[in-house]
Amino acid sequence: MDDEALLDIRDMTIDDFADVFHLGEELFTSDYSPSMYRTWDEYEITTLFNSDSELCLVAELDGEIVGFALGTTVEKTNSSWKYGYLVWIGVRPGLQKAGVGDGLFTEIKRRMLDQGVRMMIIDTDADNEAGIRFFQKQGFDNMREHVYMTLNLSKKAIRKRKRSD
Ligand SMILES: CC(C)(COP(=O)(O)OP(=O)(O)OC[C@H]1O[C@@H](n2cnc3c(N)ncnc32)[C@H](O)[C@@H]1OP(=O)(O)O)[C@@H](O)C(=O)NCCC(=O)NCCS
Repeated sequence: MDDEALLDIRDMTIDDFADVFHLGEELFTSDYSPSMYRTWDEYEITTLFNSDSELCLVAELDGEIVGFALGTTVEKTNSSWKYGYLVWIGVRPGLQKAGVGDGLFTEIKRRMLDQGVRMMIIDTDADNEAGIRFFQKQGFDNMREHVYMTLNLSKKAIRKRKRSD
């Protein structure tokens, strides 16, 4: 990133939806995270924006959207703690490793703290080494593995399973 360029981390507005969506399409392709149950689509943006627009941020560099962070808060019934869930964070390829992700993360964390969040949560694919390194650098630990299973419900697969029973 050019030293003179000004990075602005600001609220996402509806005018940014298309840019954020297309940047997410570049980042969260089907090979990005083949085993993740979440997929990137336009409803991710609108749903998170409707539920907590203060936790929807973009990074703008010289008038262009180069990154975003979308989060929400969760209050579990059996706990008095408020959790801050950082659902998506992404930086334009080519501008990664230049501190944009750090800027987005710092701001969303500050906003979550202001909202009374006591613990932040993220989830990503186990193969996403860059993402995991990034979150570790931000202080995340206590990595838990969770089991992910699929059941193919196509008629062909069901017939095959019956035959092998
Ligand atoms: C994860 C991501 C948002 C990080 O954004 P970024 O702007 O590249 O991050 P920063 O430049 O602020 O990096 C901060 C630190 O993260 C770690 N890091 C970031 N990218 C890394 C990479 N490719 N490999 C190893 N470590 C990396 C480093 O420790 C880095 O610190 P350093 O530069 O002092 O070594 C970006 O890589 C990305 O968009 N990835 C694809 C989408 C994704 O995986 N999102 C996370 C799950 S939703």
